[in-house]
Amino acid sequence: MKVLSVVNQKGGVGKTTITFNLAHFLVEAGVKTLVIDMDPQSNLTLSVLGEIPEKDTSYEMLIDGSLPIREGELFDFVPASLTLFTAEPRLHSAIAKEFRLSRALTKFENKYDIVLVDTPPNLGILTINALTASNGIIVPVEMGLYSLAGLKHLIEILDELQEYLQKDIEIVGIVPTMYDKRITLHEEVIEELRKMSFKIFPPVYRRSAFQYSRLKDFIYLLITIYVLKSSRFIL
Ligand SMILES: Nc1ncnc2c1ncn2[C@@H]1O[C@H](COP(=O)(O)OP(=O)(O)O)[C@@H](O)[C@H]1O
Ligand SMILES: [Mg+2]
Repeated sequence: MKVLSVVNQKGGVGKTTITFNLAHFLVEAGVKTLVIDMDPQSNLTLSVLGEIPEKDTSYEMLIDGSLPIREGELFDFVPASLTLFTAEPRLHSAIAKEFRLSRALTKFENKYDIVLVDTPPNLGILTINALTASNGIIVPVEMGLYSLAGLKHLIEILDELQEYLQKDIEIVGIVPTMYDKRITLHEEVIEELRKMSFKIFPPVYRRSAFQYSRLKDFIYLLITIYVLKSSRFIL
């Protein structure tokens, strides 16, 4: 079982959209997939369940070590809840607070091929739990002026964590998002990204009418194929 988190400390860059689509394509490809929503805003949970539950969520998983999986029509899922907003203060002086997700997942080592984790727009304890549990991450990067600085900061945190944990957390790829090829700045950001030594996925165009549930999308399929191809890493 490999754990793959979708991470960027900025909001609105496409983390939840990528998680949702990737999960679909992985399930279609026959990969045993568990999806976990670690974002208190619960956007993914709302699109998967149609509501935000009050209990049996990733909050309980962090606090008491349970892993309340719902066997959904789409994929197996651990929802988030608004209570997750209180997890950070609640865990403040808790033991091994960075390792709660990692610990909970050990019970499912043989049940899933891959665990996908959607993370909140910050580098707080919830994201650190996701990173600590991860073998790899996918980083959506929006085509803005400050995106590259944000990415560098994330890489610094990741390096520090890898050093501390003595474990590899691979950047599986960067996904340029909200892309518009008519905007020169967007081209420049892509150029800068290409200079870095990471796999850069094909850009996801900004579309005027867009829903999470938009599936059969070619770009997401490409991302999934790449994730599967690096299956020595993933499976
Ligand atoms: N390619 C796209 N074009 C236009 N809007 C998009 C696109 N991808 C995602 N969105 C929308 O942008 C918003 C932020 O995306 P989301 O995946 O929720 O980002 P994050 O999880 O990083 O906050 C959502 O309303 C989503 O529907
Ligand atoms: Mg989100």
